[in-house]
Amino acid sequence: MTDAVASAWDRAAEGWSRNTPAVHAWLRQATAAMLAQARLQAGARVLDLAAGAGDQTRDIAQAVGPTGAVLATDISPKILDFARRNIEEAGLTNVRFAVADAQQPVHEQASFDAVMCRLGLMLCMNPAAALAAAFDALRPGGRYVALVFGDPANNPCIATMMKVARKHRGLEGSNSPYVDGGLFSLAAPGRLASLLIEAGYAEVTVESIAAPFELPDAAAYVDFVRSSGSPIIEILAPLDAPAREAAWRDIEEALQRFGSPSGWCGPNELLLGSATRPA
Ligand SMILES: C[S@@+](CC[C@H](N)C(=O)[O-])C[C@H]1O[C@@H](n2cnc3c(N)ncnc32)[C@H](O)[C@@H]1O
Repeated sequence: MTDAVASAWDRAAEGWSRNTPAVHAWLRQATAAMLAQARLQAGARVLDLAAGAGDQTRDIAQAVGPTGAVLATDISPKILDFARRNIEEAGLTNVRFAVADAQQPVHEQASFDAVMCRLGLMLCMNPAAALAAAFDALRPGGRYVALVFGDPANNPCIATMMKVARKHRGLEGSNSPYVDGGLFSLAAPGRLASLLIEAGYAEVTVESIAAPFELPDAAAYVDFVRSSGSPIIEILAPLDAPAREAAWRDIEEALQRFGSPSGWCGPNELLLGSATRPA
């Protein structure tokens, strides 16, 4: 299963990296809130899990400065190659990279001041294992922060895409939105907080953050998802090319409702979970 996830993100790696400016703008405020909750100081050591193409890695590396150190890990070797390149281009020299599954124990135990994960934890089939691994990687008193998608009702673009894509695959009605490893796996009320508490963390908070995705039109959003939205791409992958094109056309049509004369704005709700490894 993790091999399939890694291969799927390998395929979406170039797209996610190419869309870094759009992702950066979309998640600017949520990322700032994540950094604030991590309570980063200059010189801090940070583990950035499911780092993707390194957009938040760059912010973290800048926040901890040249005396700090970031270890960026991801299950997809290809996306991590893009992260390495993007961080190099940004002129940052305080980041190391390692291919790793966030659900597996980290080699460097009890050694990070903060463990961060932006839009990766919900993709783990076993989030409890991921939270336990992060707990062990933190020094006592260290901070854990993760951003995940909130409730489907508050993420109508993703919910719509999933619904239309599943309909085209003939899968409608057969799955709860909260399925393990899915985009909404941690969206159910209280789920993220319970998992953090069960993993032994203290000072657990979960806050809702609005992260509207603003683009010129629905077509631009569909272009983004087609090239980088691995979970939706993978639902449609088994279809033949004409059937897949028909599905993307229906998705775009359904997303037109978020357009207005001033542009396109897709609502998104993220949950920011924050916690401390007790001293
Ligand atoms: C939506 S992208 C987010 C990337 C980056 N954190 C960002 O916000 O731009 C999800 C990332 O999670 C990674 N991922 C998925 N499952 C993972 C796992 N079990 N362990 C580590 N990384 C994983 C994917 O390879 C992908 O890079």
